[in-house]
Amino acid sequence: MRSFFLGPGLLYPACLVHAGPFSFPLPNGFPFPSEAALEDLYTTAGGNFTNMPLAPRFDEDSLTSWKLQAFNEFMEVAFFTQLIANITDHVSGYELEEESEDYTLQSLKTIQAQEEMHAYNANDAVRYFTNGSHILPCTYVFPVSDFLSAIAFAQTFTDMYIGLLTNIQQRTVRNLGADSNSIIYVLAQALGQEGQQSGWFRSLQGKHASAEPFLTSSTRDFAFSWLQRFIVPGSCPNVEEIPLKVLPPLYLECRVDGAGPVTLLVPGDVDPKTQSVAFVNGALVPSVMPFNITKTSGCGNGLMANEATAQAGCGRDMVTNIVADFPYSSNVMHGLTLVAIVRNGPTLITSEDVANATLYGPALIEVA
Ligand SMILES: *[C@@H]1O[C@H](CO)[C@@H](O)[C@H](O)[C@H]1NC(C)=O
Ligand SMILES: *[C@@H]1O[C@H](CO)[C@@H](O)[C@H](O)[C@H]1NC(C)=O
Ligand SMILES: *[C@@H]1O[C@H](CO)[C@@H](O)[C@H](O)[C@H]1NC(C)=O
Ligand SMILES: *[C@@H]1O[C@H](CO)[C@@H](O)[C@H](O)[C@H]1NC(C)=O
Ligand SMILES: *[C@@H]1O[C@H](CO)[C@@H](O)[C@H](O)[C@H]1NC(C)=O
Repeated sequence: MRSFFLGPGLLYPACLVHAGPFSFPLPNGFPFPSEAALEDLYTTAGGNFTNMPLAPRFDEDSLTSWKLQAFNEFMEVAFFTQLIANITDHVSGYELEEESEDYTLQSLKTIQAQEEMHAYNANDAVRYFTNGSHILPCTYVFPVSDFLSAIAFAQTFTDMYIGLLTNIQQRTVRNLGADSNSIIYVLAQALGQEGQQSGWFRSLQGKHASAEPFLTSSTRDFAFSWLQRFIVPGSCPNVEEIPLKVLPPLYLECRVDGAGPVTLLVPGDVDPKTQSVAFVNGALVPSVMPFNITKTSGCGNGLMANEATAQAGCGRDMVTNIVADFPYSSNVMHGLTLVAIVRNGPTLITSEDVANATLYGPALIEVA
């Protein structure tokens, strides 16, 4: 098996390279593929849409969840479409060895078709329960410039989506009770599918295919907020139809390789007396750590409110650098870790509790 060295450049605004933006539709008409295009899709994807009876009932909260799924999946379809083109065109940084190129491309084409189906399926549910309206895709810019940074980013957004589906399952059961049965069923089918993808992305980077026994759970607000970083501002035709919060962002100064202090860049004011840094990973209750302010400065750290606007200048006036201990080795935190600055006070048991107490976040760490 090939083992890949993961270079710097992922997820830190200072090191980003900016690509040509990606916009829809695809050549097959997606997000509105024809019947014939749908048939090609499920042939490439290796399986069809469900033909089971629809959920007996939906509520507003479930509708929001399915809108967010479509919104998230659009970004994934955009990403995999651009990645396949980069490899096919042998763009610099995307030249693969001959013996692995064909398998890699075929696997990515399968994943791309599967993501189109996830997006179409979610939007179809939205159409059904709103009598015909749907979520429209945006224009995207991705913080990657070679195959390895692309695969590491794919792992991270897939892990984020897995965390999101976990939260959507919780909400669905809470809201719909016994009527949630058929929705939980299909969500579990998609959850496992995303886990297969993440495992492959991990092994391409030389990591163990499976990260940890219980994966990190996220929330809808965390997912929605984080996705904004890859969207060209103002390019989403109807994002306002998704009634979720966009939290102020939080950035890691540098790549985190393991235990020890981590420096976070905050686009605003913080108060170490009344706030803390929460780390969410796996099945553990969040670790809540104190922090110190190390530097306060104006714009100029390379810290941008939205990575897509990086060249346009600083999104906020002020940057605060803070340092906190990352309890990586004491807790054993492989896979995705969500990091947020939270106000002190609320008891933090779940990622929902953390999201509710969040002032800035999430920043994401993936060590092993
Ligand atoms: C494709 O390649 C361009 C040029 O290097 C890069 O800017 C863009 O981010 C890449 N996209 C993906 C998904 O790898
Ligand atoms: C696949 O699903 C579509 C939509 O439900 C349906 O029209 C089509 O007949 C199915 N195809 C097969 C081969 O089952
Ligand atoms: C869709 O139409 C049905 C039947 O007319 C109606 O009961 C339902 O409230 C409508 N739903 C929305 C979201 O407009
Ligand atoms: C914060 O500052 C205190 C007092 O100087 C120090 O004991 C502590 O180790 C610092 N914490 C971090 C994470 O640097
Ligand atoms: C989070 O906040 C929302 C809105 O205030 C509230 O409805 C929900 O119960 C809170 N969730 C938790 C886990 O505290």
